[in-house]
Amino acid sequence: MQVWDPDRYAKHARFVSDLGSGVVELLAPQPGERVLDVGCGDGALTEKLVAAGCRVVAIDASPEQVRAARHRGLDARVADVTALGFDTEFDAVFSNAVLHWIREPDAALAAIRRALLPGGRLVAELGGDGCVASIREAFGEVLASRGIDAEDLNPWYFPTAEEYGERLDASGFDVDSIRLFPRPTPLPSDVTDWLETFAQPYLAGVPNVDRPAVLNEMRERLDPVLRTPEGGWVADYVRLRFAATRRNREP
Ligand code: BEZ
Repeated sequence: MQVWDPDRYAKHARFVSDLGSGVVELLAPQPGERVLDVGCGDGALTEKLVAAGCRVVAIDASPEQVRAARHRGLDARVADVTALGFDTEFDAVFSNAVLHWIREPDAALAAIRRALLPGGRLVAELGGDGCVASIREAFGEVLASRGIDAEDLNPWYFPTAEEYGERLDASGFDVDSIRLFPRPTPLPSDVTDWLETFAQPYLAGVPNVDRPAVLNEMRERLDPVLRTPEGGWVADYVRLRFAATRRNREP
């Protein structure tokens, strides 16, 4: 289970929204457009869409993050992206760093398509094929030594461009652009902070008493792979960024 604590997020995950401005640029938000922000987190990027003159509804599965987004004065609502209640309402759907948490991508795309007006655009970025491969591999080894299959705990879906492009097409979207690219990501603090912030489903699979040892072993394994000569940490992120347009005819 993954829980988002806004204070922890602000301290250890602010880079997620800081690095999201490229997706906002790809969206090219226009004044007056109705935009749905799927997975708004604490609303840092939603604010940019509002500043561009859009009328934005923001949703997130985390009540804590929605509360933080509302503190910014945003129209933020708790909702599950696979079960959105919107019907033909938005000019665009925007999403940054969220769709890789959705293990039912087709249900999410169907709900997003339903929310869009015909010709509406879906512009998003998510983790792509190979994202945090070294971290997933380290979990595989550390948890296997405790008799746990890390794949059973893996919360992420990191597709290739080909696979996601096919899903978009089958869900009733024309793919305007789609690109997979490595984005090595400097972390603001220790890799164990990243693990405790982003990798809770793996840690939850380990008894409480064993977690400090697991974090230590992870750190030791990742040190030669993700540590810079200066002592910082750089995670091996891979991004999948795309723009798609809702087709008129049903898929
Ligand atoms: C992200 O938020 O972009 C992310 C989260 C977990 C693993 C990799 C990427």
